[in-house]
Amino acid sequence: MATTENTSSTHCSDTAPATAAGSHLIGGDRLVHRMGFGAMRLPSAGWDGPAHDPERGIAVLRRAVELGVNHIDTAAFYFYEDIAANDLIRKALHPYPDDLVIATKVGPGRLPDGSWMDPADPTELRAAVHRNLRELGRDHLDLVYLRFLRTDGPGEDRFATLAALRDEGLIRHLGVSNATPGQLAEAQEIAPVAAVQNRFSPLTRDHAELVDLCAARDIAYVPYFPFGGAGAPDLAALRRVADRHGATPAQVTLAWLLAVSPSMLAIPGTSSPDHLTENVAAAALRLDAEDLAELDALRDTGM
Ligand SMILES: NC(=O)c1ccc[n+]([C@@H]2O[C@H](COP(=O)([O-])OP(=O)(O)OC[C@H]3O[C@@H](n4cnc5c(N)ncnc54)[C@H](OP(=O)(O)O)[C@@H]3O)[C@@H](O)[C@H]2O)c1
Repeated sequence: MATTENTSSTHCSDTAPATAAGSHLIGGDRLVHRMGFGAMRLPSAGWDGPAHDPERGIAVLRRAVELGVNHIDTAAFYFYEDIAANDLIRKALHPYPDDLVIATKVGPGRLPDGSWMDPADPTELRAAVHRNLRELGRDHLDLVYLRFLRTDGPGEDRFATLAALRDEGLIRHLGVSNATPGQLAEAQEIAPVAAVQNRFSPLTRDHAELVDLCAARDIAYVPYFPFGGAGAPDLAALRRVADRHGATPAQVTLAWLLAVSPSMLAIPGTSSPDHLTENVAAAALRLDAEDLAELDALRDTGM
C-alpha cells in the first residue's frame, strides 16, 4: 500500500471549526472537542468492501486534525484486506499531537480473511491491547472500550483484565461499548468507566436512559451510527430544520446529538473530504426549541 508519513504540524488553533462543539474532559484529564471522528469507514464502505483509497483516508485524517478534531475512534478490527484503520491513523498522524485522544475497542476479533471470531477471552484481550499499541505506534492507549456482543454475558473477568492493563500504565482510561446499564454498573465496580459507546441517533434512541445516566455522572457518551448506520438520512423533518438554518440533514443530525447531552461526543465516520468538512462544520450549528420539537417526531423511525 503506497502511503506517506506525516510531516505536517497538526496542532489545531482555538478557532478551528471542531472547537465550536465545546469540549469534554474524558476521565477528568483528557480534554477533547465534542466533534470527533470515527475511523471505521476509512478502509472500506462496509465489512465486505468496496475498498477505499488509503491515500484519501490519510488525507481525511490529516484534514480532520487541521479542523480541530482531537478525538479519533478506531479498532484493530477495522480493516479491509490489507487496508487497516490503525495503519492509516499512524501513517497520517504519527508523531501524534499532544492533545490527540485515540480511542480503540477490544472484544470482538477478526481473522485476516475478515471473518469474525468468538468474543476474546482475557488472554486474547491482552493480545488485542498490545496489537493496538503496536499498530498505532504508542506506548499507551488513551481510551480502550470493552466492546460487548449482544450474546455476551457479564464481562467482569474481561473488564478486570483491562483494569489490570490500566494499572500497568498501558491504558489511560476505560470504556464499555454496546453495553447495558447492568454491564456498565458491573464494570464500575471494578474500575472507573470514562466513556460508553453505544448506538444512538435521532432515529435510534433505545439508549436514551444511558445517555442521561452518563451525563449525570460526567461519563462521555459516544454514539456510534450517528446517521443511523446507512448513510446520512434525508427525511422531511431533518430537511425542514436544515433549510431553516441553511444546513444539511447530516449537519442537523450531528447538531441534535450534541444538543441532547453535554457529555455526548460525536464521532461521525466518513471517507469523504467533503463530508468531513460538512460534518465538522455542524459543531457550530445550534438548534432551537422549535427544531428539537420537530426532530422529536423522528424518535420512532428506528433506522
Ligand atoms: N462500538 C461499536 O460497536 C461501533 C459500531 C459501528 C461504528 N462504530 C464507530 O462509530 C463511528 C461512527 O459510525 P459510522 O461511521 O458507521 O456511522 P454512520 O451513521 O453509518 O455514518 C457513516 C455513513 O454515513 C456517510 N456519511 C458521513 N457523513 C456524511 C455526510 N455529511 N453526508 C452524507 N453521508 C455521510 C458515510 O459515507 P461516506 O464515507 O461516503 O461519507 C457512511 O456511509 C465509526 O466510524 C466507528 O468509529 C462503533
